[in-house]
Amino acid sequence: MLVAPSLLAADFGNLEREMLWFNQSQATQLHLDVMDGVFVPNISFGFPVMECVAQLCEKPLDVHLMIVEPTKFIPQVAALGAHYMNVHYEALAPSWLPALGVGAAEGAEDGEANGDAEIVINALEQIRKAGMHPAITLCPDTPVSVLRPILPHVDMVLLMSVHPGFGGQKFIPATLDRIAELRQLMDGVGSHPLIEVDGGVNHTTAPQLAEAGADVLVAGSYVFRSSEPQAIVAELKAL
Ligand code: DX5
Ligand code: ZN
Repeated sequence: MLVAPSLLAADFGNLEREMLWFNQSQATQLHLDVMDGVFVPNISFGFPVMECVAQLCEKPLDVHLMIVEPTKFIPQVAALGAHYMNVHYEALAPSWLPALGVGAAEGAEDGEANGDAEIVINALEQIRKAGMHPAITLCPDTPVSVLRPILPHVDMVLLMSVHPGFGGQKFIPATLDRIAELRQLMDGVGSHPLIEVDGGVNHTTAPQLAEAGADVLVAGSYVFRSSEPQAIVAELKAL
């Protein structure tokens, strides 16, 4: 299993110390949750903090942007040296923009409405041109089927297993079926980007996610709030 500890649950007063153990751990990559208070009802951290962390971190950065208009920040995320740039489908597809307070338009479930797929693919191609691996993120209530036209254009799909915005929430069990559905969709399309899952990963849910076919587990509280974070990372890695 690939493991992506989420910095959101770290001790922000001791980032240097956190990165010391992290660099020595079996973690695959560092997950960075950026929130804007618009796409999600919370604000986390921005570029000044991530620049410091990027200096301290010796592993690839997995940047998860929970923000509106994520393409505006492609150059800045690329300048961090990010490996993955995760953007939300709902922040890009016109039919799904929650900031506009609109429900999904007719046909949106197939990713066909209002040119949704074309706009999303264009954003992902911009990310790739900037030298990063594009990843698309889905909120728990967005149908997996919207990804059909998107899959050939991404290196990773991030399925949220909680509603984005806060760490420490309870895992949504329907995620397990969504992983199976996504695998089926990938087989049909013939594209197999990595499947990453984010939210409520712990001792109980991690083995279930491994069994369901997840490739990458994001874990915030479970790792950073533990007295033995390296051991928790090793436990997840061994799944
Ligand atoms: C939630 C973030 C997650 C969060 C996970 O909006 O995207 O990455 O850090 O936190 P835990 O693992 O505590 O649920
Ligand atoms: Zn995240």
